[in-house]
Amino acid sequence: MSVLLAPSILSADFAALGAAIAAVERGGADLIHVDVMDGHFVPNITIGPPVVRSIKRIAKVPLDVHLMIEEPDRYLDAFAEAGASMISVHVEVLPHLHRTVHAIKALGLKAGVVLNPSTPVVALEQIAGDADYVLVMSVNPGFGGQTFIPRSEPKVRDVRALLDRAGSAAPVEIDGGIDQRNVSAVVAAGARILVAGSAIFDTPDPERAARDLKAAAMAALTTPAR
Ligand code: DX5
Ligand code: ZN
Repeated sequence: MSVLLAPSILSADFAALGAAIAAVERGGADLIHVDVMDGHFVPNITIGPPVVRSIKRIAKVPLDVHLMIEEPDRYLDAFAEAGASMISVHVEVLPHLHRTVHAIKALGLKAGVVLNPSTPVVALEQIAGDADYVLVMSVNPGFGGQTFIPRSEPKVRDVRALLDRAGSAAPVEIDGGIDQRNVSAVVAAGARILVAGSAIFDTPDPERAARDLKAAAMAALTTPAR
């Protein structure tokens, strides 16, 4: 499998979202990562289904919707109808995670399971075979532009190993503080979907930043793992 780049629009100019998305698509974005925050599970508030619906009209690549909200079950239908192709939910808010994962799949979407930095990999043990992808948070969710937590690199390895043991080929996604300095290491650790917000949009040329980050990720794929 190749590496997919998923620029997070959280750091884009929301007044010019269409242009921002078009730029990163020209730069090779494979997905658009949409961060949904409710001011409860995380301190920040961002966007909801109406904005996803608008993005869906203009985006050429699938929408990867990351729900950082309490009670995500209440909103799965709305995000599916709005045009999400992938929905990820946090294990920390879901006592019935198995039901939620299967509800996402029943909508015809890919279901992702997300771990906060302090959540142990073992939390995936019983759901690993059901998830379509696993998202390892490499910052505490809530804001763009935070610093990558180094422990996330071996954590990606541990998640990959757990998925392999479960017989799952589900890709590992990583989100938070990904940039040119750590992209090779996380790809070598096994990450195959890379979310990047500030490293792409907080630059003068997001198209080029996307292209360069993806090139670095692809180069790391062909470099032997340490
Ligand atoms: C953090 C979000 C991330 C964020 C990534 O809560 O889930 O997707 O936008 O932004 P950077 O790449 O700037 O850490
Ligand atoms: Zn995210």
